[in-house]
Amino acid sequence: MSILVTGGNGFIGSHTCVELAEAGYDFIIMDNCSNSDEKNIEVIQKIIGKNFKFYNADMRDFNGVDGIFKENTIDSVIHFAGLKAVGESVEKPLEYYENNVSGTINVLKAMNKNSCKNIIFSSSATVYGLNNKVPFEETMPLSAINPYGQSKIMIEKILTDLCKADLEWSAVILRYFNPIGAHESGLLGENPKGIPNNLIPYINHVALGDLPYLNIFGNDYDTPDGTGVRDYIHVVDLAKGHIKAMDYGFKHKGAEVFNLGSGKGTSVFEIVKAYEKASGKKIKYKIIGRRAGDVGMCYADIRKAEKVLDWHAKYDIEKMCRDSWNFIKKQHGN
Ligand code: NAD
Ligand code: UD1
Repeated sequence: MSILVTGGNGFIGSHTCVELAEAGYDFIIMDNCSNSDEKNIEVIQKIIGKNFKFYNADMRDFNGVDGIFKENTIDSVIHFAGLKAVGESVEKPLEYYENNVSGTINVLKAMNKNSCKNIIFSSSATVYGLNNKVPFEETMPLSAINPYGQSKIMIEKILTDLCKADLEWSAVILRYFNPIGAHESGLLGENPKGIPNNLIPYINHVALGDLPYLNIFGNDYDTPDGTGVRDYIHVVDLAKGHIKAMDYGFKHKGAEVFNLGSGKGTSVFEIVKAYEKASGKKIKYKIIGRRAGDVGMCYADIRKAEKVLDWHAKYDIEKMCRDSWNFIKKQHGN
């Protein structure tokens, strides 16, 4: 079985490639490296101990994508490629819709043309919007307040319509909650360029001493300690979820949605404490106002993934913080 992994050079994709190799699958990566370092390819090869094909290609170029299908026999696509910065999507909506939505349509058209009708898609918990009550269930109504979230809802809809129109298609839509952590080797992880937007990447730099303190976005939420609660999931657990989802997709036609989270909520204060314990570093913080578009609580109802995919997350917050710290330390030569 050969799998095309779009965006396989990125944070979640690279970890998934390691798990694919572990499960005995061959894979090919296509990535334009717009948000990842091409060196990850060598790192993945080093971890899995073998080589694979890599195409430095952009999914917005239909002929390029089609060419990959012509040169290879591909049984399924795991589709990670996309832009993911919420704030940037508000500033550059056209870029986000073109990259995420038009890019995905290209991938789907190339798949159709080459009779590969099996896809796993990276959606996000952001599609639950601001109005649903936790825990979020797959059947809840969807909404989004920014182009990034809208692009995920649009792609979910496109996949659902495609599966309705052609009964040979299988689309497994995975709504990720908050992936953090890193590969145990410390060689793969998340280290965005510039000042990070997300919690753990920001804390990583406070721990390294590059940033003086963490800004906590509000302590007046209706949560046990007032800070925002999220469903953090170790990226390796998440990666393993893709193997289960793919095995499911090979046996089932049609579109199916699954939440991939731990099912547990953890507050910002709890993360800070766990990170301090894991790293032995003091994480200084200041409480500032709420961030626009944030919900107080976000965590998954994970019963469907447990029951249908036979998957659940194994690693706890301490392990997630330990692996994040181990990775960032190595990146910075500490
Ligand atoms: P990432 O940015 O690390 O990986 C995405 C990869 O896609 C990058 O390597 C980037 O270079 C590539 N890419 C972007 N546009 C492309 C294009 N036009 N053609 C080819 N390659 C392109 O992000 P990630 O955290 O690994 O996320 C993977 C997917 O999961 C994304 O679709 C993201 O929206 C989704 N997701 C991520 C999170 C999260 O918190 N990380 C949460 C929910 C959903
Ligand atoms: C953010 C995005 C969401 C996206 C997700 C994964 C926004 C509004 N939401 O979600 O669409 O799917 O990332 O990429 O950007 N926090 C701080 N200080 C910080 C950073 C974060 O206090 O410097 C808090 C947040 O308020 C939140 C928690 O930490 O309560 C987690 O934040 P973050 O890592 O950004 O993830 P999400 O808010 O879940």
